[in-house]
Amino acid sequence: MRIAVIGSGYVGLVSGACFSEFGVNVTCVDLDAGKIARLEKGEMPIYEPGLDQLVMSNMAAKRLSFTTDLNAAVKGADAVFIAVGTPSRRGDGHADLSYVFGAAEQIAQAMDGYTVVVTKSTVPVGTGRKVADIIRKTRPDAAFDVVSNPEFLREGSAIGDFMRPDRVVIGAETERAQNVMRELYRPLFLNETPILFTKIETSELTKYAANSFLAAKISFINEIADLCEKVGADVQDVAKGIGLDGRIGRKFLHAGPGYGGSCFPKDCLALVKTAQDAGSPVSIIEAVIKVNDNRKEDMAQRVIRACGGNVKGKTLAVLGVTFKPNTDDMRDSPALDIIPALQKAGATVRAFDPEGMKEAAKMMDNVVWSKDTYETMTGADAVVIITEWNEFRALDLPRVKSLLSSPTVIDLRNIYKPEDMSAAGFYYVSIGRAAVEPSDTAERRQALGTSR
Ligand code: UGA
Repeated sequence: MRIAVIGSGYVGLVSGACFSEFGVNVTCVDLDAGKIARLEKGEMPIYEPGLDQLVMSNMAAKRLSFTTDLNAAVKGADAVFIAVGTPSRRGDGHADLSYVFGAAEQIAQAMDGYTVVVTKSTVPVGTGRKVADIIRKTRPDAAFDVVSNPEFLREGSAIGDFMRPDRVVIGAETERAQNVMRELYRPLFLNETPILFTKIETSELTKYAANSFLAAKISFINEIADLCEKVGADVQDVAKGIGLDGRIGRKFLHAGPGYGGSCFPKDCLALVKTAQDAGSPVSIIEAVIKVNDNRKEDMAQRVIRACGGNVKGKTLAVLGVTFKPNTDDMRDSPALDIIPALQKAGATVRAFDPEGMKEAAKMMDNVVWSKDTYETMTGADAVVIITEWNEFRALDLPRVKSLLSSPTVIDLRNIYKPEDMSAAGFYYVSIGRAAVEPSDTAERRQALGTSR
């Protein structure tokens, strides 16, 4: 089997590398000659654990190559994957499909022999048919089928998600196209991974419905977290209590500063637009978006409250700025709302992130970027944990306490236990759980019969 993957961004590169690992001959194409040249030298344009090794070993095995020459890559390919970007269109939130349609036209011109054209980019319902129309119009003689095969991989664990998915969804309406896709995903068929063949529209909508549902779980637990704080409940226990019900499931019930990234915000918005256009609004998802937008603003206020209601002239040490750990991706990260709001309130923000600082520095001004976790905290008035990188989970607490000018930790990801933080001498504020004071202060207060 030989395939071409058009677009060597996140989805294209990971899918291309993984298909080559499955034994397929893959050519990844990109317009950006600089990117292709770097890839050929084994330099990854994104940070994704394990990707560089996978690319290098498959390049060495001559199953994976990179080029800017779309024509050469497409000619003779059994399948061509469109994995170009679909950003939110400025102004109206619709997905911008100009790159997808542009790729379809170029593929049509280059195709020879029966070719399966697969949309891997997240595209609104109806796009597959439009791609087919473009190909037919450009090359009325072409033998082809259009297939929708959305990707469900997560940044940071993309390779594992591709190699061991919960399911593969394939919108393919002819047996010939289904057979090509079956052959490509052969190792997964052998693994008995559920593979769902559907209509093209069904497959396209499944992708949006999946991301919107996951975003809904997050907004749901975030609102429950706020309620927990008001009524004295613990959101971690509530999440466990509901998540153990097999119908609900435990995943994606971690309360936090709100979802970000390149997918959930964009895909929820696109689903809302598609639904409005179809005259069948998804008001639940409209609410999910609103809850998430408000939440990012609320987080800065929470930090300010934890610092005694005023951060003017204070120095805050922020740990983690990416939208989640194990990525350098800053797109729609809650940090992009929280940090500027704290600065506006008069705080000096110092920050450290293991991978995201280069990107973040382009997007935020006046942040003092530190070289490591502990440097960030030296002399600071409080620590604010925005992203749950592993290295922040096991901080040397006595050292943290000795470095801070006031022992305050605001943990927006609940990576510490309140009782541990109290025992270690911190005023600790987290999400959906009661704030705790240093245990010695609490004991003293109890002895004096006063409350904070
Ligand atoms: C998401 C989906 O999980 C993938 O299945 C999908 O393929 C991908 O979008 C896509 O459409 O390409 P990703 O954006 O990489 O993947 O990241 P997630 O791990 O889903 O996290 C998204 C956001 O939700 C992060 O900001 C994360 O911190 C937040 N989150 C996640 C929570 O706040 N709580 C949770 O319980 C889980």
